[in-house]
Amino acid sequence: NKQFVKDKLDRPLRDLRISVIDRCNFRCSYCMPAEIFGPDFAFLPKSELLSYEEIERIARIFVGLGVEKIRLTGGEPLLRKDMPVLVKKLSSIPGLADIALTTNGVLLPRFAEQLADAGLKRVNISLDSLNDELFGQINGRKVGVTPVIDGINAAKHAGLGVKINMVVKKGLNDTEIVPMAEFCKKENLELRFIEFMDVGSTNGWKMDDVITKKQIYDVIRENYTLEETEPAYFGEVARRYRYKGTDVHVGFISSVSESFCSSCTRARLSANGQIFTCLFNGNGSDIRDFMRDGAGDGELSKRIMDIWNHRIDRYSDERTAETMANRKKIEMSYIGG
Ligand code: GTP
Ligand code: 5AD
Ligand code: SF4
Ligand code: SF4
Repeated sequence: NKQFVKDKLDRPLRDLRISVIDRCNFRCSYCMPAEIFGPDFAFLPKSELLSYEEIERIARIFVGLGVEKIRLTGGEPLLRKDMPVLVKKLSSIPGLADIALTTNGVLLPRFAEQLADAGLKRVNISLDSLNDELFGQINGRKVGVTPVIDGINAAKHAGLGVKINMVVKKGLNDTEIVPMAEFCKKENLELRFIEFMDVGSTNGWKMDDVITKKQIYDVIRENYTLEETEPAYFGEVARRYRYKGTDVHVGFISSVSESFCSSCTRARLSANGQIFTCLFNGNGSDIRDFMRDGAGDGELSKRIMDIWNHRIDRYSDERTAETMANRKKIEMSYIGG
């Protein structure tokens, strides 16, 4: 007995992205540049974070309003203690079709098996280069490629579905487009090329740094024949293709050059219990304190419904110099991408 809510632009609420922690063991230049997220950076103290019981409770309410898919994010979600415990709690929620995790992969050798046992279905693993030196520079922690590959293998071994996310930034890792495509094709992994986005206000984003979907597609087409395929689900962010003669897919996430707001069914819950209705809208609505002050399930549900009913966000459709300058932005590591 779900209630289905729609926003002002008639978009249903289908996905919930839950950030479980704002910390990360990487310092990717496009997400948490080390100059800004330094040793003195004030991350959320533990008492500010939603407990697993609180997350489960909020998730159940979201599912009651139409959510079918939950994605766990961070920062790096596997830095939060006992993540399999949370996955287990979430997988007991009836009516939830999919539970996934977005991670940098290095902690997967330790957790993949337990996560799969707890009910996790799939992971999206970030990898921006196959060159150790370049990858170490991008992740800001000199971590080589091998720990991520080990994570990918651990996830596969545990029976998790695996996709690879590669953020492409001009002059940084555009030379890695073909090597990454070749590697993922050979390993039977779905690779998604992601346009560098102007999330937050610390990554120094400029339009000039963006390599568009079309540019990447053209590079791929010089090397392979692609066939367009249907989206895997309504509102999928990636446009998917198949390498001709194989069943390996490759995707493009073109938030900048071809936005996909009209089918955006995603709500975001930050680690400290604020609800955000767009990756680019920094005006969150508190749900944690309302809950801690004793709100019942009905009241929580009503508040969430109210937030969704008022939603008008379509930032990527409207992106202009003016909207970029006049936004209260929010950092990727806080809201989980
Ligand atoms: P699947 O469920 O596997 O399709 O995952 P996903 O692509 O929705 O999630 P993932 O965490 O792997 O994100 C991949 C990229 O898409 C990241 O760069 C996200 O920031 C971006 N992304 C996801 N949802 C949105 C969105 O609603 N708007 C924008 N602009 N980007 C998004
Ligand atoms: N633009 C595009 N994608 C980004 N990600 C992090 N920061 C950005 C950005 N500025 C990606 C990560 C991860 C996903 C959650 O978001 O690489 O794969
Ligand atoms: Fe960490 Fe992912 Fe951000 Fe890189 S992109 S700093 S791995 S949260
Ligand atoms: Fe959804 Fe905002 Fe992304 Fe558009 S920019 S797809 S509204 S999160």
